[in-house]
Amino acid sequence: MLEGGAREVDLAKVGAVGERVGSRDPCHHRHVTNPAIPWERVAFYLDGLIRPSVVGAALELGLVDRLEGRAGASPDVLARELAVDARELEILMDLLAQHEVLAPHGDGELTLATRFREVLPYRDLLEAQLDYQRHVTRAMTSHYASAVREPHRFLGALIGFFHFDARPNFDAALLDASRPWVRYMSTLTRYHVPFLLDAYDFSRARRWLDLGGNNGEQAIQIARRHPEATVTVVDTPVVCALGREHLERRGGEGGDLARLRDAVRFDAVDLARGALPGGFDGAIAKSLLHDWNEEGARRILDAVARALPPGAPFVIFEGERYDLKQRSLPDAEVANLPFLSHYRPASWYVDELGRRGFRVERVERVAEIHFMLIETSRS
Ligand SMILES: C[S@@+](CC[C@H](N)C(=O)[O-])C[C@H]1O[C@@H](n2cnc3c(N)ncnc32)[C@H](O)[C@@H]1O
Repeated sequence: MLEGGAREVDLAKVGAVGERVGSRDPCHHRHVTNPAIPWERVAFYLDGLIRPSVVGAALELGLVDRLEGRAGASPDVLARELAVDARELEILMDLLAQHEVLAPHGDGELTLATRFREVLPYRDLLEAQLDYQRHVTRAMTSHYASAVREPHRFLGALIGFFHFDARPNFDAALLDASRPWVRYMSTLTRYHVPFLLDAYDFSRARRWLDLGGNNGEQAIQIARRHPEATVTVVDTPVVCALGREHLERRGGEGGDLARLRDAVRFDAVDLARGALPGGFDGAIAKSLLHDWNEEGARRILDAVARALPPGAPFVIFEGERYDLKQRSLPDAEVANLPFLSHYRPASWYVDELGRRGFRVERVERVAEIHFMLIETSRS
């Protein structure tokens, strides 16, 4: 069944396939929050054109910070404090009230709306998504026709956000230019990984390889959940350098720096070369393979097949292919538009994995974030 070239595979025969209905992870009870909540709360403020614009302005101007610690304030008072035009601020605040960022509070004053207060614990996710959405919206509104004509320019030049650069020697300029997209990706991943940890039991291996693991956010969360595990991130030299900084910061915040330094390692490897380090008994590729064309993705799968010993688990956690005939793309998800043509059906991975001697054990949708989880082991 798995040797049929690019044809569609009947996934129902491969293993358990379906929507995630709950957690099989015995650790699940430790988690009191539903990982979908941050995404749902933030999505409301990404919807449409005016709403994300006014939310972004309120954050950037410091209006949210001003209102966070107090009961309410009038536009006049806030305009003075923020040194902005009073009439423009009043208009902005009226729009913010229309979009459930602000709510009336007594005589001519406004306060943060309850709905917006509830999103503030996830302010990093909100700000990262607003910022990236702005890039995509700009490119979309100005250059969508060119994007259809020349998709590579749309992704590379028009959005100009992700700069993957595997040069062995990098300078301070590349380090700084890489920070925004590394931080953006890492922020999304911070909120993606709780779904993965709920759905997959990483105690199946001890020495994990995280392919294209960025600044180690996923590796840190796996290591925290599974104290017996070590996770080695392979990524480009510049991203590994940012990863070492990230690890120090996260370890400092969490009070577990010494343990994280021991459990999470970075190894600069150019995945384009098709060779991976040995000595691992499990591997994960999250949000990685869609970035590569078929040839590149196959080369990575070949390298994983060579690097892992028999029985070792290999997990793919990837954006799922959107079926736009079945479901519309909401404005709040416009950021996914440039990648819609990159996401492959699960059957592509299942076929390719089968050809390389991986046993596909389970394919599962994580519908809340439009991801799929493909669990396999090396035969
Ligand atoms: C879309 S990001 C996903 C990052 C991470 N897995 C996550 O989900 O947060 C793709 C990652 O692949 C890395 N990458 C791209 N080209 C690479 C190469 N030639 N060698 C190693 N890593 C590469 C990037 O630096 C980036 O961290």
